[in-house]
Amino acid sequence: MTTRVLTGITTTGTPHLGNYAGAIRPSILASRQPEVDAFYFMADYHALIKCDDPRRVASSRLEIAATWLAAGLEPDKVTFYRQSDIPEIPELCWMLSCVTAKGLMNRAHAYKASVDQNEAKGVEPDDGITMGLFSYPVLMAADILMFNAHKVPVGRDQIQHLEMARDIAQRFNHLYGHDKAFFVLPEVQIDDDVATLPGLDGRKMSKSYDNTIPLFEGGAKATRAAVMRIVTDSRQPGEPKDAEGSHLHTLYRAFATPEQSDEFRHELEAGLGWGEAKERLFAQIEQELGPMRARYEELMAQPERIEEILQDGALKARRFAAPLMERLREAVGLRSPQAVAESAAGAPSKGGKKARFVSFRDEDGSFRFRLQTGGGAELLLSEPFDNPRAAGMMIKKLQQGLPDDAALQSRDGVVSLILDDILVCRVPEAGLPAVREALADL
Ligand code: TRP
Repeated sequence: MTTRVLTGITTTGTPHLGNYAGAIRPSILASRQPEVDAFYFMADYHALIKCDDPRRVASSRLEIAATWLAAGLEPDKVTFYRQSDIPEIPELCWMLSCVTAKGLMNRAHAYKASVDQNEAKGVEPDDGITMGLFSYPVLMAADILMFNAHKVPVGRDQIQHLEMARDIAQRFNHLYGHDKAFFVLPEVQIDDDVATLPGLDGRKMSKSYDNTIPLFEGGAKATRAAVMRIVTDSRQPGEPKDAEGSHLHTLYRAFATPEQSDEFRHELEAGLGWGEAKERLFAQIEQELGPMRARYEELMAQPERIEEILQDGALKARRFAAPLMERLREAVGLRSPQAVAESAAGAPSKGGKKARFVSFRDEDGSFRFRLQTGGGAELLLSEPFDNPRAAGMMIKKLQQGLPDDAALQSRDGVVSLILDDILVCRVPEAGLPAVREALADL
């Protein structure tokens, strides 16, 4: 089975070359591995903690979505969505808040750093600190636990947040899980091979140092202009350069094959002028970014296209989140009123209302059915069938339960359920346990 890899992108600011080489490019490459089921999302609720300018929040999440898509993220292969399109996330965040020790949050580095700054300034320890900042790790835990992610690739500064997510998951599992664990304990994934690009001045490329090279913003012109501002030493053309010690060479390496980098190094050592070296670096970067920038501009000109992709992503994500949320509501005692009424009337056992199949006629005239939870959340949607009989037969077969996992064909985290040589439906692999549970319970 596949590994669910999940990571969030905080939507403040505009991505720069360092974000591209350090996060975007490696994440997209990882998402193409067949055994990876990638969930990548824009953490726009998190953005509100850092930014109270609505226009910046709005433009940043659009730019970031367009950037990831232009850089080659395949929305059919991954689940790509916006946090704020998944109402189950803030709902889970509240449930988790109710089991999270305040003392655990007191220990969060980001919060402690703000307190330390306040103390240094001689003001109240919590001066200017919002509940958003204080509870940041709980929202992040909800992001991760909502989708039962196994691996969470993040920077080192996020390791503590992952430890907290595990703590919170364990606490919830212990309090409410009884014989079943609701949450997978996520593991942090720190990728040490990933390039940390130096900025114009040689320090780590970062907005806070004002030393970035723009990715798409401002077009090729802006990227070139920034490259020309890279700080070098004062050696003249013809003088041998210390290639290994120059961050210009480090930047080049991030966009070239090992052979190309070696050649570039030899030329610098043989006296290549810095001006010419910058032109070469720009050409090398542009070879990779050029086609992406064209796609980026095309996407930014059609925000409705981006929106459509994100809505599809949200639908895919909620297909997993909604049934889990329903089980969690039930676990904490917040069952749907319908289910409560039924169990009071001595009607169905256990979880109140049962899962069921619902048949319907699609807009194009074909016949389909869905399996939904008692609360109405969709667990699977069938392929279209020519007539109601064909659809009905498939329902009958499904009622007998699913074949073993080993007998199911899975690709890119999606299982094609084929019964008697007929494709019945496609289900995200992660949604299978909920489908099995519902079928067993019918
Ligand atoms: N806190 C992360 C960061 O600043 C962003 C983030 C939000 C995240 N939710 C997440 C990362 C969930 C991984 C998983 O980088």
